[in-house]
Amino acid sequence: MEKIFINGGRALRGGVHIGGAKNAVLALLAGTILAKDACRIDNIPEISDVGAILHILHQLGAEVRRVGKYTYDINTRYFDSGEVPYELTKHCRASYYLLGALFGRFGHARVALPGGCDIGVRPIDLHIRGFEQLGALYKFEENAIISLQAEQPSGSVVNMKSSVGATVNIMLAAVRARGVTVIETPAKEPHVVDLANFLNACGADVRGAGTDVIKIHGVKELHGCEYAAIPDQIEAGTYMAAAAATHGRVLVQGVIPKHMECITSPLIECGAHIEEYDDAILVEAPERLQRCKIKTMPYPGFPTDMQPQFGALLCTAEGASILNESIHDNRFRYMEQLTRMGAQLKVDGKVAVIEGVEQLRGAPVKAYDLRAGAAMVIAGLCAQGITEIENIEFIDRGFENLVGKLKGLGADIKRKEVREYGAELMAG
Ligand code: UD1
Repeated sequence: MEKIFINGGRALRGGVHIGGAKNAVLALLAGTILAKDACRIDNIPEISDVGAILHILHQLGAEVRRVGKYTYDINTRYFDSGEVPYELTKHCRASYYLLGALFGRFGHARVALPGGCDIGVRPIDLHIRGFEQLGALYKFEENAIISLQAEQPSGSVVNMKSSVGATVNIMLAAVRARGVTVIETPAKEPHVVDLANFLNACGADVRGAGTDVIKIHGVKELHGCEYAAIPDQIEAGTYMAAAAATHGRVLVQGVIPKHMECITSPLIECGAHIEEYDDAILVEAPERLQRCKIKTMPYPGFPTDMQPQFGALLCTAEGASILNESIHDNRFRYMEQLTRMGAQLKVDGKVAVIEGVEQLRGAPVKAYDLRAGAAMVIAGLCAQGITEIENIEFIDRGFENLVGKLKGLGADIKRKEVREYGAELMAG
């Protein structure tokens, strides 16, 4: 078992480069199923969620070629089945995008319900209702298989209530459907816009992504294209939060500053100094941050995927901060780990009140999920003494080379293989 060890208390200083956006890339990779020839996609981060989707595409018959460190050619021409078993979907939440993409291509799909981070119930009723509106007959079968079948997917009016996954899935299902699909109240997240741009580069006709209505005129076929994914808003925000929490000075490079406004604004409220450049943001923080009040909201609001990192940062901010989680229903579990490090806080349903202390203390803690893992790292970076983080495979799902990048910023951090108790006895 590998763990991360951090000797905390050092201010982060220097520059860090941000990779491609996990959540955009996962949607784009599913989107390649709709194109009749190869797509070259650049800015694909080296993270395990990407590996999981590439593996599924390959198992289903795609040619997957890595042609550069972050560039892949993907050709799904020889796909002949719309079936994906649980064995393949269990490792990655975004494998539910295969439902929309396969249904969009074949008019039928049988895909097992996905795995992913345990941050609440995560229903998919909006996805299903959307597919039904596009003409699908829906069945929930044995082994958690969802099956969709339609003679010919046909455009319709659907309301996605700001769900990211449902908006992406219906876009995938609708680009080759007959007629016009209107998505009301779509998610407006940057990765939804990125998917629309990718699909349009393949010859689709998707308009209005990023606004209150998306209109899709179905086309007969999509062709391949060359496309580069957007930078990862959440990876960038995580380094910005880490810089602020350690009272450091970090230039976060290769970002789209507009996408970062929902994260820079609470950092400014906490007293951090922010400078924006064309494709970089400088974060500089004083000796003590101030409390703030944050509510997670769909984009352009504060992202739920940054809530745990801010939870860690606020543990040492002066005064009582309030975090309100309005998106997911079980996203405060990591807080109990912060209290092991000396944090003073109280959780009541979807609201956490954090009374800032002067200093956290290092402790052995667990990463409960991907973003909660990032929160443990931030807490460890600003704590006095050693923090030992287990379950770090969650962190690998979404952060490329987190330890190496933090080392580059001056952190005293390493990954180390640790033998579990009794391993030598059981080895005989
Ligand atoms: C995506 C992101 C995830 C992020 C989340 C919110 C990917 C791969 N994952 O997840 O990192 O935390 O957006 O920004 O991009 N809901 C329903 N019915 C549905 C679908 C959603 O009730 O059919 C509810 C959910 O329970 C949740 C809320 O809507 O409370 C938001 O979920 P959604 O935006 O769909 O999140 P995901 O697509 O799962």
